[in-house]
Amino acid sequence: LSHYHIIDEVRLVMESALTARDRVGVQDFVLLENYNSEAAFIENLRRRFKENLIYTYIGSVLVSVNPYKELEIYSKQQMERYRGVSFYEISPHIYAVSDNTYRAMRTERKDQCILISGESGAGKTEASKKILLYYAVTCPMNDHMAALGDRLLQSNPVLEAFGNAKTLRNDNSSRFGKYMDVQFDFRGAPVGGHILNYLLEKSRVVHQNHGERNFHIFYQLLEGGDEDLLNTLDLERNPQNYQYLVKGNCPRVSSISDKNNWKVVMKALPVIGFTEEEVQKLLNIIAGVLHLGNTQFGEGEEGETYITTETQITKLVKLLGVDGSALREALTHKKLTAKGEEMISPLNFEQAISARDALAKAVYGRTFTWLVEKINQSLALKDEIYHSNKGSSVIGLLDIYGFEVLQHNSFEQFCINYCNEKLQQLFIELTLRSEQEEYETEGIAWETVQYFDNKIICDLIEEKHKGIISILDEECLRPGETCDVSFLEKLEDTLGGHPHFVTHKLANGKTRRVMSREEFRLLHYAGEVNYNVNGFLDKNNDLLNRNLKEVMCQSDNQILSRCFRREEVMDQKRPEMAATQFKNSLMKLMEILMSKEPSYVRCIKPNDAKQPGRFDEVLVRHQVKYLGLMENLRVRRAGFAYRRRFEAFLQRYKPLCPETWPNWHGRLVDGVSTLVNHLGYKPEEYKLGRSKIFIRFPKTLFTTEDALERRRQAAELIRRCLTDTLLLFVSACILETAFCMYTIPLVVYGSVFIRFIKGFIYRHEEYCPENEYFLDHVRYSFLKNLRKNLPKSVLDKSWPTPPPLVVEASEHLRTLHMRNMVVKYCRRVQPEWKKQMVQKVVASEIFKDQKDNYPQSVGRLFLDSRLEREQINLKVVQTLGNDKVQYGASVTKYDRRGFKPRPRQLLLTNTFAVLVDRTKIKQRIDYTALRGISVSSLSDGMFVLHMPSEDSKQKADAVLQCDHVIELVTKLAMMAGKIDYVNISPGSIRFTVARGKEGIIDFVRGSEMKVTKGKRGHLLVTVPRTNTT
Ligand SMILES: Nc1ncnc2c1ncn2[C@@H]1O[C@H](COP(=O)(O)OP(=O)(O)OP(=O)(O)O)[C@@H](O)[C@H]1O
Ligand SMILES: [Mg+2]
Repeated sequence: LSHYHIIDEVRLVMESALTARDRVGVQDFVLLENYNSEAAFIENLRRRFKENLIYTYIGSVLVSVNPYKELEIYSKQQMERYRGVSFYEISPHIYAVSDNTYRAMRTERKDQCILISGESGAGKTEASKKILLYYAVTCPMNDHMAALGDRLLQSNPVLEAFGNAKTLRNDNSSRFGKYMDVQFDFRGAPVGGHILNYLLEKSRVVHQNHGERNFHIFYQLLEGGDEDLLNTLDLERNPQNYQYLVKGNCPRVSSISDKNNWKVVMKALPVIGFTEEEVQKLLNIIAGVLHLGNTQFGEGEEGETYITTETQITKLVKLLGVDGSALREALTHKKLTAKGEEMISPLNFEQAISARDALAKAVYGRTFTWLVEKINQSLALKDEIYHSNKGSSVIGLLDIYGFEVLQHNSFEQFCINYCNEKLQQLFIELTLRSEQEEYETEGIAWETVQYFDNKIICDLIEEKHKGIISILDEECLRPGETCDVSFLEKLEDTLGGHPHFVTHKLANGKTRRVMSREEFRLLHYAGEVNYNVNGFLDKNNDLLNRNLKEVMCQSDNQILSRCFRREEVMDQKRPEMAATQFKNSLMKLMEILMSKEPSYVRCIKPNDAKQPGRFDEVLVRHQVKYLGLMENLRVRRAGFAYRRRFEAFLQRYKPLCPETWPNWHGRLVDGVSTLVNHLGYKPEEYKLGRSKIFIRFPKTLFTTEDALERRRQAAELIRRCLTDTLLLFVSACILETAFCMYTIPLVVYGSVFIRFIKGFIYRHEEYCPENEYFLDHVRYSFLKNLRKNLPKSVLDKSWPTPPPLVVEASEHLRTLHMRNMVVKYCRRVQPEWKKQMVQKVVASEIFKDQKDNYPQSVGRLFLDSRLEREQINLKVVQTLGNDKVQYGASVTKYDRRGFKPRPRQLLLTNTFAVLVDRTKIKQRIDYTALRGISVSSLSDGMFVLHMPSEDSKQKADAVLQCDHVIELVTKLAMMAGKIDYVNISPGSIRFTVARGKEGIIDFVRGSEMKVTKGKRGHLLVTVPRTNTT
């Protein structure tokens, strides 16, 4: 009965697990039965979102819905869960993408990139920060790398302070595009970083739409800066006092603490290498921009423009380090060169205001670029530490503005949306191409899928001579009267009739009604956008009057003088227009991305109110559409819904087939074939490629998953039953003890005895009341005996002979025990083995083809220590206290002067090494101070530890010899984090004797190993050709 009860329970558990899975939809959209239905797609997203499951895959693309609340899914433990785990084994997560990308980089040695896209507020920047954090926490690192990891992380708040702002869509909207490379060395440790920034929205410096703010840094400074600082910058705390901060009428945002963020930024700046002076200069510029905004103009009687706020000029002179009269003149006059002659012409009121704003934008924009360069210097791969960075690989992270449709769209939106067109092109190209390539390499026929190729729109924008950007440039450069409207007319003339281009004049009645005469409409792949041409020419020109540039060149603020170079003023050639510059930088970006293996994170914003728990279907549908997610899914499903490498497939499902369980020894493809035949897959349901199985319908995989789940439940049931049996067994033992000690009355003993005899007589019968006691006793006795005589190691093949009654059970137990021992063995041995492998790899990096006795060391295991614990003197251990000895070996130390050999022990702790003479520590070598380790290229065991000569605490260099030099030096170099500090010298090694004097060891080949005093006071080491040290 209880047996049935358990089975029933199992069934219930299983059913609830299945419905639980249904309730939260599918983890991977390719498993969606109705994959053509957008409604089913959105419903799946919604269901999962409501359960706080914000991540779902489309194959290897991660779809992420902004939860607008903190979820408990980003802890360190979570990171550990995703480390080294296959994509499909565990729920979708940004960490899974991070980990898979990292592993692909390491195993395939190919550069990777993660492209994060989605509209403003969808969570791109948050996603990129989570990826960075994942690497900073999980990658192997020494102190130097940890410092780099810190700088990588700290660069974020700084860039956000200067490049992010509150917009209507996002309280922390990135107003620049960012591509960041993280460089890893061959061991997978981060060693460098580099940031490329794209088109900062500079217009925000001088103007903000209602409800929006300027860049965070202005408010942070006013809110967080202490009184003294504000005084030196001539600033007042109230942001309402600054013209550049009042336009949006939104000085504070409830979700942002400017004060705290200010502290974070001020802490981060020194970490990423800013000196105090640089911070001061930077803040002078920020304050300078605010004062520039408050600089006002008046119009004189004769129409001349003059500055009405003289005090502002004084402040600007101080903060920007420029000349007052030159600045005054440059803000109200323009310098022109006509026919080789310079002319000064006054600016009218509006022109003066634009000149001032242009200066503010240029100062801020260039300072931002300087900031990025400064961060790059701090993240740059340090060559002196990593002599060779060959074998290193890169993971790029792209967090760039998403498709943007505002009520009024201008030049910035045009650029942003053009960028998204390009990224969509890349997405199509790469996903389709890689899908196609996969089918080809696997030898499986490809079916074409209909998708919208947006190349036509990219061409419309960027084509030479006929594209919008070319026309815009031409209009900016054309002599004669040009204006935004003439640009629009030119567009109409050239592009009229293009299926993706409409203007008021070209539109039909219905569209005409919703378009103004100053707009052109582009039918983007993501939707229609009307762009107002007002300001296009100015923004594309991005002109700063030459005399303003000259004033800035002469600034004694070093940041500004770096931003405004003299050569630029001298250069008569016109710099490229803004849109062309942007186009070129995008081309370069596409090249960078094309050379890497991409992974995609597609971010979705669930509602416009920035609220948790709200899922606005209309809004989501629009994003699903323009992110091309349905197309992506269709491509994925066109052939086969699911594919998995043979190994992974076999590993997961092998318990479902007796021939593949527990291990398949033949070819993988045959194993998979046997397995799917056993599972009853029909030929049309799957195909076997060269390395992967392709499964056409999700249902097939579901059925297999369910079978696996049933099997797991059954295994659990067996485990429980076995536990029950063991319990019974233990109670039998107790009973028996009691029985032996006569604590049980004799009556009981008598009846037991009779039952025993009876049972013996009936022992060959079926289990029946007469023999049950006897047979149970036989079983118990066997189990008891077995318990005492279980084999202790995997190599021990003995096993007590079972009575006929329990032969089958005995066999099962034997298998189980063996498996258990193997598992334990593996668990025990794996970390050890791993450690061994890592050390061997490092040894090979250091010594391979460099030192004669390296080949002999290859086949020998590195030991944990060459000294037994008892060999190290207790007094020494006590002196070392908490610094535990990690490795020890006997060495010979040669006196630096007379080269007298003395026996010593070299003990390594985590942070230093000591040379021990029996009970005394003779020398302590701090790893941080260690300047290098030298060995010869021959097969001797000499090595020299180089110490800084100026450090009186550390004695001079130590000349040592050890029989396990490869092992010892490898361990020392790894522990000290100084693998690159090992020098292998072919002829001789120089070292310092105390007080700067030099000593030399010469190495020569000879018939036998000898260490003698040579000529000129050198130490001469004679090394036989094939010495096995
Ligand atoms: N995974 C997440 N967990 C919790 N909150 C999140 C998450 N992702 C995003 N958010 C919230 O949404 C806000 C907007 O996200 P984020 O700044 O990353 O958007 P974005 O896509 O970079 O937008 P933009 O294009 O404007 O820069 C964040 O400030 C945060 O409050
Ligand atoms: Mg962002």
